[in-house]
Amino acid sequence: MRRFRLCFIGFGNVGRALARLLAAKSAELRDNYGIEWEITGVATRRMGWRASDEAIDVSALLAGTEQTQTHTGINEWLAYAKPDVVFETTSLSPENGQPAIEYLRASLQSGAHTFTANKAPIVYAYDELNQIAITQGKRFLFESTVLDSAPVFSLFRETLPAVKIRGFSGVFNSTTNIILETMEAGRSFAEGVKSAQELGVAETDPSHDVDGWDSVMKVCAIARVVLKTPLLPIHVRREGIRGLDHRVLQAARAEGKPFKLFARATVNADGSVTASVRPEQIATTDPLGNVRGTSLAIHFELDTIPGLTIVSHRPNLQSTAYGLLADFINAVSPTDQQSGKY
Ligand SMILES: NC(=O)c1ccc[n+]([C@@H]2O[C@H](COP(=O)([O-])OP(=O)(O)OC[C@H]3O[C@@H](n4cnc5c(N)ncnc54)[C@H](OP(=O)(O)O)[C@@H]3O)[C@@H](O)[C@H]2O)c1
Repeated sequence: MRRFRLCFIGFGNVGRALARLLAAKSAELRDNYGIEWEITGVATRRMGWRASDEAIDVSALLAGTEQTQTHTGINEWLAYAKPDVVFETTSLSPENGQPAIEYLRASLQSGAHTFTANKAPIVYAYDELNQIAITQGKRFLFESTVLDSAPVFSLFRETLPAVKIRGFSGVFNSTTNIILETMEAGRSFAEGVKSAQELGVAETDPSHDVDGWDSVMKVCAIARVVLKTPLLPIHVRREGIRGLDHRVLQAARAEGKPFKLFARATVNADGSVTASVRPEQIATTDPLGNVRGTSLAIHFELDTIPGLTIVSHRPNLQSTAYGLLADFINAVSPTDQQSGKY
């Protein structure tokens, strides 16, 4: 049995869902993976840097009644909380990935396995962060950044050796799916935003989704890690969904080719990557044409497999939290071969 000290940077929707999931799966982690855990630090913009040298009560933390000592900044906080594992789930900053990159760098340098749900640090600092993790003998993983928790990065890392990727396409953003479908039903853009907010998928300010930034960041993160190409948001042709009229959307749906905010990346003959995120009409007979509502999907074209599609049907916050939990378990567990299971 190993006991891990866990710390959270960011404790909003995803961080809280992860705390609940850890609590729900405690017995399974202990019995099947030999993992015991306790939370020793939580930091958010409003809470500040809270840490304890004893386990923080999870129910009190979730209820907002927990009172632990506040520290002045991340280094003092890390020194006091002494995490074995840090989960980083702060808000997306598409322009430069900060301050999340600084948080991840400090966490890895302190010797903690570090996992994030935040795409921007992958886009702007993957090489550096990964190198620190390797130097420290720790893992830096981020499976929940793209399709909530459906395997994308681990698929290529662990399962598909020596494959050449010719390109990928996908429907990466559920807020825009819901807005477009609401407008196809004859209602307004604002009503679509409201529906997405009621479902808990859109933020109060949905611009990152609506203007395509969220999807662009996902394209760049996949390109960086899976295609090994340092694609930046400025390199991606981007067009959001604000220019679409409900009559155009209704006609496209009637034609059997509804609009989606569609992401594409193609590997060119010289190895460079051309990428776009823009509204495109996708036939309902296409593997991605029926990705509706909160569902998300990616389709890869590979030299050895002409088409490989991964669809995450109606993922929710627990799915995103599960991506982080899976990263944690995978990072600290011996492989089946090492543990003699096969
Ligand atoms: N929600 C999803 O379904 C989903 C899915 C995949 C990936 N993600 C990614 O996961 C991350 C978290 O999403 P969320 O939905 O949990 O967001 P959220 O509910 O807005 O929570 C964000 C958390 O980050 C904290 N925070 C923001 N800026 C900070 C800073 N400078 N220093 C310290 N803490 C800071 C916030 O603190 P305060 O509350 O005190 O302001 C809050 O606790 C984002 O990067 C998002 O893109 C989300």
